[in-house]
Amino acid sequence: MSRLDSFIRRMVAQRDCLNWAAKAVSDIPGIVLELGLGNGRTYDHLRELLPQRDIYVFERELRAHSMSVPPERFLFLGDIEQTLPLAADRLPEKAALAHTDLGTSNAGACQALASRIGLPLKHLMIRGGILVSNARLEIPDLMPLDTPPGVKPGRYFIYRVS
Ligand SMILES: C[S@@+](CC[C@H](N)C(=O)[O-])C[C@H]1O[C@@H](n2cnc3c(N)ncnc32)[C@H](O)[C@@H]1O
Repeated sequence: MSRLDSFIRRMVAQRDCLNWAAKAVSDIPGIVLELGLGNGRTYDHLRELLPQRDIYVFERELRAHSMSVPPERFLFLGDIEQTLPLAADRLPEKAALAHTDLGTSNAGACQALASRIGLPLKHLMIRGGILVSNARLEIPDLMPLDTPPGVKPGRYFIYRVS
């Protein structure tokens, strides 16, 4: 498969998982967490899907499109390994939905980072909440769910907090 095809499939999987997750949390109260703002595409999509929810964003370095920059009070700027463990003090409530897309060019480093932040992230989420991830997480109390039809298993990951 060409890199272009692979990229397109990843983007479709990401969108379909977020669409599914937004519906899945419709009866679950709570804020939304976006880990890895990047260009701000998935942040913008989440804003569109969940206009009534506050979305808090974690990012090391602000490089998003000007239309997708979160208000300052919703932004945790800095290395996520430092900001995430301290976030509970600033967040008004637990999260119903979290999306983590902390990509780096190195798949191994990306997986290792996801494994390190999984536990502090889970602590910020409400029981029954949904975590959508670009990397596999093996964390106690995170129950893996099937991805929506059309998303190849292993391309993107969805968990329920139990
Ligand atoms: C693939 S991009 C996210 C793309 C985004 N989902 C979008 O739709 O535009 C990954 C982002 O994660 C951020 N990131 C990677 N490691 C990080 C870390 N340790 N702390 C905070 N942010 C990190 C990078 O700066 C980058 O902006």
